[in-house]
Amino acid sequence: MAAHALEKHLALVGFMGAGKSTLGPLLAERLGRPFVSVDEVVESRAGESVAEVFERHGEAEFRRREEEAAADVLARRRLGVVELGGGALGSGRTRAALAAHAFTVHLETSPEEAWERVAGSGRPLARDSEAFRALLDERRPLYESADASAMDLDGVVLEAAGVHFASHRELQASAVIADTHVAKLHGIDATRTVPRGEAAKTLAEAERLWRGLTVDRTATLGAIGGGSTTDLVGFVAATYLRGIAWTAVPSTLVGQVDAAIGGKVGVDLPEGKNLVGVFHWPSRTVIDTTLLETLPEAERRNGLAEVVKTGLLLGEPLWELGTDAQVRTCAAYKAGICLRDPFDRGERAQLNLGHTFGHALEAASGYTLSHGRAVALGLLAACRLSGLDDEARVVESVLAPAPVSVDRDAAWAALQRDKKAVGGEIHLVLLERPGRPRLSSETEPARVREALDALIA
Ligand SMILES: NC(=O)c1ccc[n+]([C@@H]2O[C@H](COP(=O)([O-])OP(=O)(O)OC[C@H]3O[C@@H](n4cnc5c(N)ncnc54)[C@H](O)[C@@H]3O)[C@@H](O)[C@H]2O)c1
Repeated sequence: MAAHALEKHLALVGFMGAGKSTLGPLLAERLGRPFVSVDEVVESRAGESVAEVFERHGEAEFRRREEEAAADVLARRRLGVVELGGGALGSGRTRAALAAHAFTVHLETSPEEAWERVAGSGRPLARDSEAFRALLDERRPLYESADASAMDLDGVVLEAAGVHFASHRELQASAVIADTHVAKLHGIDATRTVPRGEAAKTLAEAERLWRGLTVDRTATLGAIGGGSTTDLVGFVAATYLRGIAWTAVPSTLVGQVDAAIGGKVGVDLPEGKNLVGVFHWPSRTVIDTTLLETLPEAERRNGLAEVVKTGLLLGEPLWELGTDAQVRTCAAYKAGICLRDPFDRGERAQLNLGHTFGHALEAASGYTLSHGRAVALGLLAACRLSGLDDEARVVESVLAPAPVSVDRDAAWAALQRDKKAVGGEIHLVLLERPGRPRLSSETEPARVREALDALIA
């Protein structure tokens, strides 16, 4: 079974009335893929509606055309979001095409809700509520054989990225590698442990893991810990035996809303952070928010800065939500952007909102400044430069980032060295308005410097 939709069509299946045609186009927009309805392909080929095909040619002929259209659509090279009709899974040929080319998500709904949506719609198989229910019961096992199931848009995006909310105890892996502190706190029976936090992200640790592994190419490595552990283990999985599967179980808020999603993995060098790495999408990311119960406040605040960042990018006050809802919305947001731009060639850059300033301050502090405080200050500068005073006040009240005491010239030099400074221009992520990020290279250097200086005590 497919684990995610990274290199596959995303097929939506489910009973009539589940909301596939409403959700499908929204999903396609989120993932930057074309939306294709198999029913519409049948209709445009026939020049008549599905109901007309049923009436004039009978259900068997409709199923034959549906099967042919599904096979053609799923053979397309450009990956899409493909909506299949409620009965399409009855065809063995369609099921085989889905297994070969798609990650299939069952959009779940209750019989009552589905009937409410379709009653009186004139659909050929929705004319009598008893028969409708009987048909749903008959088809249920087929829907349940999908790769995943979900109930809403964020749910489908998360499944498409291989992100699941479940207990960390459900992790299935050939070898489990855990942050030593997290393993102790949560009684995790790890095959190997790695040092706490950033100290794990070294080539020496990677080598220790490579040399200790005895698994074959069919193995899956499990990583339990914060972003440092998942970055390291993902890197080891990407390189061991030229690449094996891995599952991330993030134990920090940063990990759950950011680091364990999207497949960027790697280690640090003495010359700088994240200098060696690759893209290696985890086959699963298991999010268990109960792991956060032991997270120290300072670590939680690092994650909260990313939550506020996502809220600004989405234009929604995510900071007002409870932890579970925050994590789910942020994880789904990051999953959607990374599925759109898995190799960081374009839109993924928006995730750097506030980070250009943040990185500069971290570098100027000799990496003694916490990442959360650096990002919080960076968000403040990005809001101010975007002319969004209300949002700047939100950042101040939610994250309360105190100005930092670093050398101004050193911070300015670091900002200009940041990877977003291309060809002498400083590329910043700003907001046209909340929910509408834009990449800007026109901001005058003097204004950027002024915004940076305002963050320094
Ligand atoms: N790959 C990506 O896309 C991506 C994105 C963001 C950050 N990162 C990386 O993530 C790293 C930072 O990760 P992080 O902030 O998740 O923290 P971390 O992994 O560095 O851990 C920070 C501290 O929290 C402790 N800890 C972890 N989980 C805990 C728990 N449940 N209870 C108590 N203590 C716990 C750790 O032992 C450690 O002391 C950086 O190296 C950064 O570069 C990667």
